[in-house]
Amino acid sequence: MTQMPHDTHFDSTLSLLNDPYRYVSKQSDTYGSDMFRARLLLQDTICMTGTEAAELFYNESHFIRKGAMPGRIQQTLLGVDGVQGLDDEAHKHRKQLFMSLLMNPTDVQDLTGIAEQYWRIYVHRWAYIDRIVLYDEVCEILTRAVCEWAGVPLAEEEVKRRTKELKALFGYAGSVGPKHWWARLARWRATRWAQKLIEQVRADHMIAPEESALRAWALHRDLNGNLLDTHVAATELLNILRPTVAVAVFVTFVAHALHQYPEACQKVAANEDDYVTYFVQEVRRVYPFFPVVAARVRDDFQYKGCPFHKGTRVLLDLYGTNHNAGPWQDPDVFRPERFQEWDGDLFNFIPQGGGNAFNTHRCPGENVAIELMKSAALFLARDLTYTLPEQNLQIDYKRLPALPKSHIILTDVQPHR
Ligand code: HEM
Repeated sequence: MTQMPHDTHFDSTLSLLNDPYRYVSKQSDTYGSDMFRARLLLQDTICMTGTEAAELFYNESHFIRKGAMPGRIQQTLLGVDGVQGLDDEAHKHRKQLFMSLLMNPTDVQDLTGIAEQYWRIYVHRWAYIDRIVLYDEVCEILTRAVCEWAGVPLAEEEVKRRTKELKALFGYAGSVGPKHWWARLARWRATRWAQKLIEQVRADHMIAPEESALRAWALHRDLNGNLLDTHVAATELLNILRPTVAVAVFVTFVAHALHQYPEACQKVAANEDDYVTYFVQEVRRVYPFFPVVAARVRDDFQYKGCPFHKGTRVLLDLYGTNHNAGPWQDPDVFRPERFQEWDGDLFNFIPQGGGNAFNTHRCPGENVAIELMKSAALFLARDLTYTLPEQNLQIDYKRLPALPKSHIILTDVQPHR
């Protein structure tokens, strides 16, 4: 049997937290191996990076998700009883509903169309304000858009509060101290809100539109034909609202890239041969979002002669795989054109997970993210002029999710029409 390289520190959690996006790939480079063992969060953990590792990770005969995510991430980002922690038939059954709600191009277009209407309203407001923080504004635009699309009523006086809560679920999930506790409180409040909506739809006290996500989760039945517990249904409804608002992180990076790469910005504005698609794919590849995903070994097996023991936690490096010099030449260079030749491999470009989303845990919201990013990129490049005043555009790689330090401040915003 081959020995897997081993990070010999007693516990490397601090190293991971200090450099969450690059810890795995740096250690892998040091050991000259795409897999190594380390003690993380006081548990023996296998860390893996690269295309082959991703292919192994998404082989569900070897890995399960139950109990893989640390409790503090479940209590904030994911919720404790959502699809992310399910396996096998229960997972496929629940996932099916996400896929039918999120993969239909017409539904995605509807959501993008609603978001565009809000962009227009907001841009006209920005023209009367000295400066805006783009990240905050986009979170609000996307909260309004996804609630409207999902059939979730949102009174005007609720908009700021709900945006703040949904934002806290992903914005502070990786934090410690007071921010972590605020994220937990936000999870509790958002779940209570979503639970009430589910209860109202079930009791016919509220009419949710026929094809809406709210109605779908309220009436969804599990494999035994029972309605979901309201807490579970609420978690799944939030599994649509929260990540759609989180697309604001990628939109902030879109604005960052348009500013940093003026030539690419001009090409987005001209959008010949659908250049904007290559541009947003390159944003999703180059910029950081989720550093890793976690699973546990289902049963003992060997891979390349190395033992994987039942129950061991395994981390797959998403960021490092997208920056792997094997498939990606000059991986740190921002070059959207590279996507003209990309063959659609399911494992070498994995900002939102790998494999086939229908039968693995890959994100079902990839098309939603891509389309919202494309429309934001076209909007920023074509439909308004603005200035980026002096500010700190450095990306804070220690923050989870990472963001430009200034969150992108815009002044002198003028819509073209
Ligand atoms: C903001 C950009 C997004 C990023 C970076 C992202 C990333 C991810 C990642 C890394 C996973 C885990 C994959 C795995 O466990 O193997 C995931 C799962 C998931 N995402 Fe996304 N996502 C985004 C947007 C969305 C959107 C817009 C939606 C829905 C509207 C969504 C819904 C989900 C759901 C429900 C899962 C769980 C899937 C499962 O366990 O089968 N995500 N996402």
